[in-house]
This record gives sequence, C-alpha cells and structure tokens, in this order.
Amino acid sequence: MEVIESRIDKNSDEFKANYAAMEKMVSELREELRIAREDRSEKALKRNAELGKLTVQQRLDKLLDRNTPWLEIAPLAARGLYDKKVHAAGSRAGIGLIHGREVVVNANDPMIKGGTIYPLGVKKGLRLQTIAMENHLPTVTLVDSGGAFLPLQSEIFPDADDGGRIFYNQAIMSKMNLPQITAVLGLCTAGGAYIPAMSDHVVHVKGTGAIFLGGPPLVKAATGEDVTAEELGGAMLHCRESGVSDYFANDDAEAMEIIRDIVELLPRKEKSRIPTRPPKDPIYEPQEIWGIVPRSISTPYDVREIIARMVDGSEFLEFKALYGPTLVCGWAYIHGYQVGILGNNGVLFSDSSLKATQFIQLCDRQGIPLLFLQNIAGYIVGREYERGGITKDGHKMVNAVATATVPKFTVIVGASFGAGNYGMCGRAYSPRFLWMWPNAQIGVMGGEQAADVLVTVKNDQLAREGKPPLPKEIVDGIRGPIIESALKEGNAYYSTSQLWDDGILDPAKTRDVLGLAISVSLNAPLADRVQGHGTFRM
Ligand code: COA
Repeated sequence: MEVIESRIDKNSDEFKANYAAMEKMVSELREELRIAREDRSEKALKRNAELGKLTVQQRLDKLLDRNTPWLEIAPLAARGLYDKKVHAAGSRAGIGLIHGREVVVNANDPMIKGGTIYPLGVKKGLRLQTIAMENHLPTVTLVDSGGAFLPLQSEIFPDADDGGRIFYNQAIMSKMNLPQITAVLGLCTAGGAYIPAMSDHVVHVKGTGAIFLGGPPLVKAATGEDVTAEELGGAMLHCRESGVSDYFANDDAEAMEIIRDIVELLPRKEKSRIPTRPPKDPIYEPQEIWGIVPRSISTPYDVREIIARMVDGSEFLEFKALYGPTLVCGWAYIHGYQVGILGNNGVLFSDSSLKATQFIQLCDRQGIPLLFLQNIAGYIVGREYERGGITKDGHKMVNAVATATVPKFTVIVGASFGAGNYGMCGRAYSPRFLWMWPNAQIGVMGGEQAADVLVTVKNDQLAREGKPPLPKEIVDGIRGPIIESALKEGNAYYSTSQLWDDGILDPAKTRDVLGLAISVSLNAPLADRVQGHGTFRM
C-alpha cells in the first residue's frame, strides 16, 4: 500500500495557530477529566475512610491487570448538570483487562451523593450494558449506591429506558450467556437489590455491603422492628442463611481478588478473525493532528492528513480516489487490524453517497470493520441536486450504514450536522463506539443556518399576510438565542454530558483508542455477511 504524502507545512503560521488552539483544548479536557476523577468533598472522603472502604480508583487498581489499558466510557457524563458535582454521572466505568480478558466494569462512586443513581446514571448503565451485549463481554459491577436519587425519581423509574430496563437487560444478558459478576460493597436497597440478585456471581463484603428490599428505617416504619443493616442484609446473612450471595469477602481488597479469580475461570472464547498484519506506527506523528485541525469547523481541510497520522505506516489504499471526491474511502490498518475508512472532505453529493454505499457493501461482504471520520455539514441541497436524486442516493448510503453487520466505529472530528450525522454513522446507527474530538460540534444544523431558516419562515408568513419583513432588531432577537443555544448544546462537552457519545478524545490518542475498541469488538462473532441490505431506491 502507498504511504499518504502529507502536504502539511509544520512551520506555517496556520499550523502553529491550530496546534496552540488544540493544545489548549486538550489541556482543558485533561483538567476536566482530573476534576471528574478527583473532586470529592472532605466529608465524603472522611466517611469513606471511616467505613474502611477503598476509593473507586483503589478498587479499580486492585481489580484490573496492572499496567494495562483502560478504555474509560463516558467519564464526563452529567458534566455541568444537577449540582455540577455528579461527576461521570456517579460511576467510573469502562473496559479493562482482568487476567487478560476484556471486561466491562461499572463502579458506583459512594463519594458522590452516596453513589445514588441519577437519570444520566441510568443512561450510562444502559449504555454499558449495550456495550457488553454488542461486544459479548462479561460485566463486573461494583455496587456501592443508595439506589435511586429520590428527588428525581420520576425521571428514573417509570419509562421503558429507565431503571427497570437495567434489570431487564440483566436477564437478557444472562440468557445470552454473558457472565455478570457483582460485588456488594455498600447498600443494595429496593430496586438496587436486584443488581446482585440478577447477576451470575455475587461477592459480598462483610460490614459494609448489604442487600435488602427495605432498609432498616423502612423496616422500623413498617413493622416497628429495630434491626441493623448488617443483621438485615449483611454478608454473613446472605452467604450463610439466605443464599442470596455466593462469595464472602472480609474487605474490598479481598472482594476484588475474588472477582479476578471468577473471571480467570470463565470459559474462554475464540475471538472473531478479521484481516490483520503486524502493527506499526504511522510515519507521521499523531500529535501533528493538533496543527492540522482548523480552528473553525467551517474551514475545510484534507481528511487524508488525519488518516495519515492514524493508520499503521501511514499506508492507505484509496477506493475510487477520482470519483465522489468529497468523501475519502479506503483501506488501512490500525494497530494491525484492517479497517475500511470513510472520511468527509466536504458535503455529500450523489456521487460521494453512491461511493460510500458501494464501499460499505464491500467492507461488509469482506468482514472488515468500518471507521467513520465525521466532519460533515450535511447532504448537498438545491434544485439541481434534487433533480439528480440526492435524496435517493443519500438514502442508499444511510440504508447501507444502518444494515452493515461489521463492527462500526465513529469519531466526530469536526462538524456533525443534519442527515450527514446519519449517513456517517451517528449514534442512532449503532456504531460499537462513538467519540468526539474537543473541537467537534453536533446538531440538526449550525446555529446561523437554523436562525436564518426561522427568520425566513417568519418573513414568508408576513409576506402571505401582505406585511413588510421583520425589522433588524426583531431579527436579531430571534437569531441571538438560537445561535447561542446551538453553540451551547452543540459542543462536545454538552454532547458527552448527555451521553450522546462515549467520551471526548485527544486527537493524538484516537489511534490507540481505536485499536483497543476494534480488539474489544472482536469478542462478538461477525454476523452472517450474506444477509445483505434493505431495498435500495434506484
Ligand atoms: N436519594 C437522594 N440522596 C441520597 C440518597 C437517595 N436515595 N441516599 C443518600 N443520599 C444523599 C444524602 O442525603 C447525602 O447527601 P449530602 O452529602 O448532600 O449530605 C449523601 O447522599 C451521602 O449520604 P450519607 O447517608 O451521609 O452517607 P453514608 O455513606 O453514611 O450512607 C447510604 C450512604 C447510601 C448508605 C445512605 O445514605 C442510605 O441508606 N441512603 C438511602 C438508601 C435508600 O433507602 N434508597 C432507596 C432508593 S431505591
């Protein structure tokens, strides 16, 4: 394969200014991640120590293989929401290695409001279960939670994708033969009692862990019985008498050791095979991406420059290089795994959509995972393009993306607007993982365009009524809030806070994260590749 020839001038003012801007964004990201990991009140730290518990980080350190990668999921979920202190939506979660086996871990943080579950905590739990189901991974849950965050109970309880779905999914995962291991490290009350109950293996820590449908205050209120948490649902009761728990642990550290032993004995399955070759570093430094990504998402740049810094040896076999040039498609390797890459180089036209459709079909038939590098303002609009059938050609691409059975991965490296988000495998198109870069923006359309559409609609209404168009001050009054909310709700931090993605990545680290993610995806069998797609509108 040919090495991509970079045309970047690293000494240019443009490169230096871009680099400095991205460096700032990445250092802000690191600081946000540090805050989410470490910002805990003195009171909560003291209480945790009094109870003789390890911190979440200490638990993870003991649980996971030393010096191995940890792919953290949604570390900035709920950022800026609630009281701005429900970091990571109340749990540290990700995919790590235990005895060399890739495992989904979700660990409640008791130092954040007693580890209680907020609405976005439920969403995160469901996302982790989806990851486990799609990639056929065992799960380890470290429960240390006061259950539902009661002031927001109506947002957590009743709907299809609320708390009950977590237990429903546990039953489905059990049926799928995906092992679920739960450590009871704090109280598992009411609905929370079903997290261990629905698991295959329950490890229970003496003194601090308890499982009951109603805690001591409720029992007192209901029956007048005075009982401690340990007597009502402690490790000794559940390991010796009720049989609810399976493994007795004297403390958190012993519980982590027992989980490791359980995972070690789980039957090993062969991973799926895709074309591989020995990994090698890109020829161009991945960190140079900082200087390539323009400071404004509306400034175009060649996505090949990004691909050159992401793939092994910077080698790329481009598919239909001369046709549909606003979408770059081609094959490469990332950490030794072959992938088919689709990267935007402008808006999507009929030709680029058809090229994408053919390329996706080829990758799907050949069992090659797909990587979408999204930087898309949308599909082209206008009379000429409608006549040319852009809608039906866009439909073919969207159809192919939706029905492709190979693992799909999406990184939003710039803009993600309109149906372009769908065609380039946005969240609703079930990529196994989706990440954003710190500069990325997402929405139906940009704020300026949305504001213009609304002003035009209003002026058309007035014209129908024979009235003059809106004066400037009213136009400004309509445009301002729309542009402001698009900026606020369209940026990467808002997206990640809402769990529209799995996290924000340093562009320079994206290659490594993709390598891990592809490896994780191969735990699931590749689907039958002759299934084909839906009917294409011709
Ligand atoms: N909803 C909302 N807030 C809750 C909560 C709940 N279910 N459970 C605890 N909290 C809050 C507390 O008010 C406290 O808030 P603060 O830091 O602002 O003062 C914080 O979480 C820590 O609680 P605290 O009791 O001080 O800590 P602890 O370590 O001694 O005990 C629990 C933690 C979870 C064991 C204990 O708070 C508890 O039993 N909670 C109720 C559990 C329950 O019955 N849940 C039913 C819902 S399914």
